[in-house]
Amino acid sequence: MKKLKVGVVGAGGRMGKEIIAVIEQNPACDAFYPLLRNDKIDAKRAAQVDVWIDFTSPDALSDVLKMAAKNKTAVVCGTTGFSSKEKALLQKYSKQIPLLWSSNMSLGVAVLNEALKALSAISHFDFQVEEIHHNRKKDKPSGTAITIQENLEKAVGKKLPEALAIRGGGVFGVHKIFAMSDEEVLTFEHSALNRTVFAKGAVQAAQWLSKQKPGLYNIRDVLFGKNA
Ligand SMILES: NC(=O)c1ccc[n+]([C@@H]2O[C@H](COP(=O)([O-])OP(=O)(O)OC[C@H]3O[C@@H](n4cnc5c(N)ncnc54)[C@H](OP(=O)(O)O)[C@@H]3O)[C@@H](O)[C@H]2O)c1
Repeated sequence: MKKLKVGVVGAGGRMGKEIIAVIEQNPACDAFYPLLRNDKIDAKRAAQVDVWIDFTSPDALSDVLKMAAKNKTAVVCGTTGFSSKEKALLQKYSKQIPLLWSSNMSLGVAVLNEALKALSAISHFDFQVEEIHHNRKKDKPSGTAITIQENLEKAVGKKLPEALAIRGGGVFGVHKIFAMSDEEVLTFEHSALNRTVFAKGAVQAAQWLSKQKPGLYNIRDVLFGKNA
């Protein structure tokens, strides 16, 4: 069987290391090109990569997309904290290459985001998003909380109070959505039990994305299909 050649940008980071460990457990994938910050790019090797996985920082995105576009290689990106500048880059390069960006690569959060659509039936309730993460996390509120907030506001058709962010300890990621009326409180909650959950989702996304045509995709498309 021909293995999928995966390039990992930010291979020395917390997520980069986890992604390489997940690839090593997956017989269909090869951690072909782990890239560290300040590594000089080996153009020949980069040209052989089937799909890049990038979990770094917003300022890395432009170079990663340029490098991938040169060889028409797909990119799975999980970096958070993007401004409108990086979001415009995703739009631009998705016309040239298959590009999948998700603020949270866990399958549970992908399903949670779909489930939020049902809250349109109780749009008159009060809503609050809350997230908890480890004390080393740089962005606040988390990219996942921002995505949940966007989907929730779309579902209930109104602007909601900003997500509450708690930082402390080693928490991998907890997200809660409260829907509250005078009579009842409905809570949706997702807890990441380890970092592997994001790495597994990213590798599954990479296997799926390598077979797609250019476009901007999301982890939900891996589960539900692009137009579902
Ligand atoms: N989508 C998801 O499911 C998900 C899940 C977890 C985390 N994340 C996000 O993924 C990103 C990384 O998280 P992490 O916990 O792995 O952080 P981390 O441990 O700080 O790792 C980031 C890695 O990227 C490297 N890097 C940073 N800027 C770079 C640049 N401009 N060029 C090249 N390399 C660069 C860092 O190198 P140095 O050490 O030299 O700075 C480090 O090796 C964050 O945005 C985080 O929010 C997303």
